This record gives sequence, C-alpha cells and structure tokens, in this order.
Amino acid sequence: MTELPANRHAIIIHMKIQRTKKIGVFDSGFGGLDILRGIIQENGEYDYLYLGDTARTPYGTRSQEIIYEFTKQAIDFLFAKNCELIIIACNTASAEALRKIQKNYIPKKYPHKKVLGVLIPAVESALEKTINKKVGIIATASTVRSCAFTKEIHKRDTSIRVYEQACPLLVPIVEAGEKYHKATDIILREYLQPLQKKHIDTLILGCTHYGLLESKIKKILGKDVAIISEARTVPKKLKLYLHNHSSLEQTLSKKSSLLFYSTDLTENFQTLGSMFFGKKINVKKITLQ
Ligand code: DGL
Repeated sequence: MTELPANRHAIIIHMKIQRTKKIGVFDSGFGGLDILRGIIQENGEYDYLYLGDTARTPYGTRSQEIIYEFTKQAIDFLFAKNCELIIIACNTASAEALRKIQKNYIPKKYPHKKVLGVLIPAVESALEKTINKKVGIIATASTVRSCAFTKEIHKRDTSIRVYEQACPLLVPIVEAGEKYHKATDIILREYLQPLQKKHIDTLILGCTHYGLLESKIKKILGKDVAIISEARTVPKKLKLYLHNHSSLEQTLSKKSSLLFYSTDLTENFQTLGSMFFGKKINVKKITLQ
C-alpha cells in the first residue's frame, strides 16, 4: 500500500493519479488485437494500452530464453506507461515466459502490479466443456514445446487426455491474408487429423491468430467438437477477475480510451491491424530494450 499524503489537497491529487491507471495488453504482433477487441466489448469502460512487438514477431519459433527477455521488456514498457495490470495476450509468451515472470520478476520489480496470461482462461473453459475428457490444443511450435497447456490442465484434472498439435504454417497463412487459399483447407485438415483420430470433444485455439480460421476449423471438426476461443473466454474471465479484485479495479481509470504501440510500422500494419481489431487503428512506434 502506498502511503497517503497528509493534507487534503495533496490527498485529492494523489487519488486522481491513482485513478489514471490503465490495463496493458501485450502480444508479439497483431494477433492480440482480436483478444483486445473481445476485452473491450466486455469491459469497455477501462483505458487500454496495446503493445505489439511487430519488429520481432513471430515469437512462436523462438527460444524460451529470448521470449522471456522480450516479454520482460514489454512489461517494463507498459508499467512505465502507468499500467496497473497487464494481460499477455500472446499464447507463446504466456506459455514460455509468464510463470517465470510472475514468480521471479514481478515480486522483485513490481510487487504491487499484476500480470495475467491467456492460457488459464482457455484451460478453465475447456474443462467446463469437455465430456469425454479428451482435449486438443493447436498452437505455435514454442507453445507446444513448453507443454504449458498440458501442465495447466493436469494441475486441475489429471484424468484429462491432452493432445497438443503444433501448427507452424497457420500464423504465416493468416498474416499473408491467405485464409481463402485452397492450400489453407488442406493444411488445416492435415493438422487437425491427428486430433480427430484421438476423438477429442474440445479444441483450444491456443494461438492469437487461429480465431480468424475458426469457421474453417469448425467445418472440419463438425458440431460435436467444442471450440474454445480466447477472444471469447479471456474477456469474461477478466471481468470476473476485476470483480474479485475490487481494490485494483478501483484504481483503474474509466474513460474508455485506447492507445496502440508497436515496435515496427510496416505497410500492412493497417490492413492486419484492422483485420484483427475490426476497425482502423492509429499506431505509435516505440523501441523496446
Ligand atoms: N501471438 C502468438 C501466439 O499467440 C502467435 C504469433 C507469434 O508466433 O508470435 O502464440
């Protein structure tokens, strides 16, 4: 707890500063904008800062060490911009860096601040949905390598059979705007077939980009497989989290503002940005170090 200054005027200023705190949303690039869109629909009153590390995306093929370093830098940036709570909207960063950050980095450097990820909301929703206890996960190669989804599921229920499938071609396909290319269906079928053979009844879309392929995935898997989308589950879990953490919630400013930062501005930023976010965004370029 920070101490309150003695005189009344100073107290009012202090309280105003306390209430200017924002929610930071971080992703390796554009994909987290899909989750941010859902978050805003559900929790529109707060002020948000989005940071996409577009200069260094994708994270999904990188080592754990480098993902941890990059994620720490993003966290430093967002906390320096007066965020009180950060959502790591990137599955790869949530899988490879979040636990270490929550355990080692935050308690030492930012003991009063919070960082949350996207894996646990997805896992909790999958456990609510599955009936036959066979859950599939599609994600980047780094996320699958970490086994973070399997670990989180087994912490909650060891009887669940978990099948993780790396889908390295899906992020480039989505970013190239090739959702409707005929090769996309062939590639999706190839990735999903091993999970179908295991008779999963629930599939987690464990990567920011896969929401854009959801209709195609649904068509291949059929109506008997429930699909868990983080753009739907994370916003609801965030609402609950803020409700349960009212002292944090009260410090957050509520002017419905939105600021976007990225580490590179490419020509297709507007196209990809609006594809994921659903409308045009204005982005400010920054450097992470
Ligand atoms: N944001 C990443 C994720 O959700 C996908 C893109 C990347 O590999 O950086 O895993």
